[in-house]
Amino acid sequence: MDKRQLQGFRRWFTRYVKEFYTGQPRNDAHIRLKQVHTNKVCQEMRYLAGGLSLSENDGWIAETIALFHDTGRFEQYRRYQTFMDARSENHSLLGLQVLSEHRVLDPLIPEERQIIETAIHHHGQKDLPEDLPCRQALFCKLIRDADKIDIYRVILKNYREYEKCPEGFVLDVPLPDSPGYNPDMVQAVLEGRTVSYSDLQTVNDVKLMQLGWIQDINFPATLERIHKRGYVRQLLSLLPDDENISWVGEHVNRYLRNRLSQAMNQPQRS
Ligand SMILES: [Fe+2]
Repeated sequence: MDKRQLQGFRRWFTRYVKEFYTGQPRNDAHIRLKQVHTNKVCQEMRYLAGGLSLSENDGWIAETIALFHDTGRFEQYRRYQTFMDARSENHSLLGLQVLSEHRVLDPLIPEERQIIETAIHHHGQKDLPEDLPCRQALFCKLIRDADKIDIYRVILKNYREYEKCPEGFVLDVPLPDSPGYNPDMVQAVLEGRTVSYSDLQTVNDVKLMQLGWIQDINFPATLERIHKRGYVRQLLSLLPDDENISWVGEHVNRYLRNRLSQAMNQPQRS
């Protein structure tokens, strides 16, 4: 692809999203949240592409994926007034339908189009399929990392606003904010297992799952970003102050330090 195609995609996306603003404050706040998220994920993707020394062309492919990865969120909110796939439909597949209906990716050569569609398809899944061709897997890993960096920003902002005013702010997590947590979640993080959304019982379980994502990060450059911004420390400070959570904190911080120090002596691929 070439740079002009990426610029055309950006123009299409801006026009497309504009249609979803209705003037109704709650609706527009949700649409803005995803538009800002998209812009931030594009920035994170440019950072990762630079850190991994991707070619110029691969950088444009990667940014196109970042730009379109959440295309389905806008139609999802319009139809269901929620961003929860379990209560509506899979937003990744919905996004692919939208892109296909608008023939957005038609000008691309089939190989690049397939890379972009595959990465959008798998960006939010619990785990990546193991049999993806190497090049497709690379771009899937890139969007999953870039997305997570910005998800940490969004969730921490939400948790902080909720802590300041629990009555006036609704967390987008349909689970009770009770003081405890599921001990299996602690175990899952300590064992480095990814968990399903169906295993979550409380808001603290969600925070533990989000801490565990650190072990699902593909590139040291991503971990560096997360480390520099203090996201692990901030998430830990929102969990109960007890022995189990201390172990989780030590475990996650040790994991982070080890991966970062290994990376110092290695090239930036995962
Ligand atoms: Fe997404």
